[in-house]
Amino acid sequence: MIRFAALIFAALFLIQPASVSASALATQARPVLSPTLTPPMGWNSWNHFKCRDLNERVVKAQANALIATGLRDAGYVYVNLDDCWQGGRDSDGHIFADTKRFPSGLLNLANELHAKGLKLGVYTDRGLQTCQKRPGSFGYEIKDAATYASWMIDFIKEDNCYLPNPKPTAQSTYVKMFEAIRQAGRPMVFSLCNWGEENVWSWAGEISNLWRTHTDIRDSWSSLLENFDANTVHAASAGPGHWNDPDMLEIGNGGMTATEYRTQMSLWAVSASPLIAGNDLSRMSPETLSILGNREVIAIDQDAAGRQGTLVFEPETGVQIYSKPLAPAGSRAVVILNRTNQTKNVDVPVRVLGLESHVELRDVWQHKELGPLSEFFHVANLAPHESKLVVVRGNNVVAPRGVSSLSDLVPFYQAVGWGGLLRFNSTVDRHSITLNSTVYSKGFSAHADSELGFQLPASGCSKFQAQIGIDDEVGAKGSAIFQVWGDDKKIYESAVLVGGAQHKSVSVVLNDVKVLRLRAMGTSDGIRFDHADWADPKITCN
Ligand code: GAL
Repeated sequence: MIRFAALIFAALFLIQPASVSASALATQARPVLSPTLTPPMGWNSWNHFKCRDLNERVVKAQANALIATGLRDAGYVYVNLDDCWQGGRDSDGHIFADTKRFPSGLLNLANELHAKGLKLGVYTDRGLQTCQKRPGSFGYEIKDAATYASWMIDFIKEDNCYLPNPKPTAQSTYVKMFEAIRQAGRPMVFSLCNWGEENVWSWAGEISNLWRTHTDIRDSWSSLLENFDANTVHAASAGPGHWNDPDMLEIGNGGMTATEYRTQMSLWAVSASPLIAGNDLSRMSPETLSILGNREVIAIDQDAAGRQGTLVFEPETGVQIYSKPLAPAGSRAVVILNRTNQTKNVDVPVRVLGLESHVELRDVWQHKELGPLSEFFHVANLAPHESKLVVVRGNNVVAPRGVSSLSDLVPFYQAVGWGGLLRFNSTVDRHSITLNSTVYSKGFSAHADSELGFQLPASGCSKFQAQIGIDDEVGAKGSAIFQVWGDDKKIYESAVLVGGAQHKSVSVVLNDVKVLRLRAMGTSDGIRFDHADWADPKITCN
């Protein structure tokens, strides 16, 4: 543990990026393996070419297509070889590429791609073998990272197959590769692929740039939703340089309709997910290209604030509103998703986005201003599986002067773990916040891992107070750490609070902070039962 802490500490000072977005929560506390702070974009061989068809000719054709179609210039720069590029290990244990598939070798390929403004990624595995039984990196982390660095590799994906017995924890092996990459001295994006096991989101941000949150995506509507849903509940763990990964894009692979593929792009962009195309780019229809290449959608994904959008409203079963706060204060990217098989008409109250009435709206797929609106916007005839993607520009709801209850405000950001919506203590969701048998009429029940963001007046806010603890509804189960952040600095952290124990009364001095964030994070036992309450949350602004 001490060694791990020392490692993080060292990494902090050795590999700081030159500039960091001011709004990047906790970025300063993370080592950066790659200088890229926005979600990586590119192409990967697996979804379309699998093992059988991966070779140099195919990869070069994809690289050329990235350039010819303009996708490279739109941001898709990583060309990632998935499983089956490997030939074996030599007598010194050095990995080499399959010479039949890659006769020119990976260094030459990397040089060629770099000359074209592209980057090269490789795949490996934390076990003894990869999923397709090529050599794994277990015990070879230092050698492999050094070899990749000598080949000028830019991206490493590390999978989760064929582990030795006894099975090492994911964290213990991924940390080895993290250390090895740092030691190799070349900036490389590090992508963990343990399918969302072992609460990867709770620790991976400190040692990697992205981590898969679920099993492999398939080219079907049900799989798309399954991977999206599994990913969306971990939004509080992601941020600039460290991303939840719902897996690669299936756009253009033929198993879904264009409407469904547009929905994948909209949902991945609003989630600040890595955008890694998984189709054959050299034989792409104009429609597929228009989906992958929509620059307004890409800009939402790549927004500098680096927030993963979250569910904020569900007007009826199967119709959902996701909101991602963008870097300009008062701007949101909003997806209105129709999961059902019926056409829907949807009214979206501007209030659920944490915005004052009177907003401007832009349809991102149609590249069209929809004009000013007041309290609602209406989406007519949303087809089955269609999603509308709009940018909404307005003003964040700001806390009033005087002493007020924070739970009377809708946060501008609400990321809540375990699924579902943020629960207010209100008649709307009929939830009673109860701590040690006291029922509170005001407050938030924000299942860990969670983050609530509030806009305060430009000056004058001096105090935040609340009763914090795990809600009585889970008895003695559940545990969380509560944090208060002011303008991207942590200003309060509780000890671990457990279910059934005494709750805590907190009073935090704010010193004019403008953005207040309440975070409740799970502990090593995972996030099950972590019903984290902020009861009677009061803010004092003069
Ligand atoms: C899976 C992984 C896929 C792909 C495949 C290759 O474990 O999740 O993304 O890399 O292995 O064998």
